Amino acid sequence: EKGGYDHFMLKEIYEQPSAISDTYRGRIRVAEGIIKMAGIDDNLAKLLNAKRIIVIACGTSWHAGLVAEYIFEELVRIPVEVEYASEFRYRNPVIHQDDVVIAISQSGETADTMAAIKLAKERGAFVFGVCNVVGSSISRETHAGAYTHAGPEIGVASTKAFTTQITVLSLIALKLAERKGTISNSDFHYYLQELERVPEKVKIALESNEHIKLIADKYKDAKNFLYLGRGYNFPVALEGALKLKEISYIHAEGYPAAEMKHGPIALIDEQMPVVVIATKKGHYDKVVSNIQEIKSRKGKIIGIVTEGDETVKGLADHVIEIPETIEFLTPLLTTIPLQLLSYHIAVMLDKNVDQPRNLAKSVTVE
Ligand code: F6R
Repeated sequence: EKGGYDHFMLKEIYEQPSAISDTYRGRIRVAEGIIKMAGIDDNLAKLLNAKRIIVIACGTSWHAGLVAEYIFEELVRIPVEVEYASEFRYRNPVIHQDDVVIAISQSGETADTMAAIKLAKERGAFVFGVCNVVGSSISRETHAGAYTHAGPEIGVASTKAFTTQITVLSLIALKLAERKGTISNSDFHYYLQELERVPEKVKIALESNEHIKLIADKYKDAKNFLYLGRGYNFPVALEGALKLKEISYIHAEGYPAAEMKHGPIALIDEQMPVVVIATKKGHYDKVVSNIQEIKSRKGKIIGIVTEGDETVKGLADHVIEIPETIEFLTPLLTTIPLQLLSYHIAVMLDKNVDQPRNLAKSVTVE
C-alpha cells in the first residue's frame, strides 16, 4: 500500500502534485475566473466583513496558518493573528463577534485545536475549519469549512497536508480579495493561472531528489541545523526545521533570516549547516546579504533558489533549484526540497521515518 515507495512519507511527498490539484480541482474555473467553495460562498458576507481573522492550529498546521497570515494580509488586507491553539485556549483571549476564526487541522481531532474552537464559538466568533479528514470532530464542530482533498496521510510527519492547506487558504484569500476588490481583476486571473501551474512545478522540484540525497549524505551527522527564510518563506523555514527534528532527531531551528544578528548568529561555525530559502522576489537581496553574513562565519550554506540563480550559487556550498512562481505561492515549492532533505537524512540515520519516537499522528490529549 506504499505504492512502491519505501515509506509512506516518501509516497506522500510524491503525491503532492496530484494532492494539490485535487484540492483546487472542481473549485476553480480558470478561464472564467471563478472560485466556487460552498463553505465560503454560503458565508461570504461574514467573511468579507471580518475585522480580523484569528488562525488557530498546532504544529505543521500552525505553520500553514503563518503562511496564510502573509497571504491574507497582502491580498485581502484583513489583519490576521496566528495562534497556537494550546496558548489561545488558556489565555482568556479577546474575541469579538466580527472576528472570523480559521481552525486548521489535518486530522480534525487535535484536542487543543478543538478546545480553542469551542471557546471561540462560546464567545460569538464565526469558526471556519480547514481539515483533511472528512467527517472529523473539528469538521463537525465548526460553522463551515473547506476540506483539503489530500487523501489519507499516514506518515506521522505531515507533508501533503501542509501544501494542500496552503492551497485551500490561497483559494479562500483569492476569492475574498476578488470580492473585496483588494486585487485587480487581471491579477486575480493571473494568480489563478499560476495556481494551476503549481502541480507541474512541484513535479519539477521533486526531480532534485537525487541531488538532495547527496546533500543529505554530506550533512547527516551534523548535530544542529538552522533554517532561514523571510516573508512567505519564514514559515517554511520553521516547517523545514520541524520536519528534520521530528524524523531524524537532529536539533534544528527555523528563524526569520534577519533575526540571525540578534542572537543565533553566535551559533555559526564550520560545523553548522544553514538551509537558506533564497528564491527570487521575496526580499532576495536581503537574503543574499544574510547568506554573506553566514559565509563570513564559515557556516555551510544550502540554498533553496529559483532556477537559473547565479548569485547564491556563487556563495553557497550547495543549491537546490525550484521553478519560478508568484511570490505567495513559493511556499508550495520551497517546502518540497526541505521535506526530501529531512526524509533522506532520517533514512540514512536508520530512523523510523513513518512513526518517529514519542509522536502520534493525531494528538487527542492536551
Ligand atoms: C508535524 C505534525 C504535527 C501536526 C500537529 C497538528 O509533522 O504532524 O505537528 O501538524 O500535531 O495536527 P493536526 O493538523 O492534525 O491538527
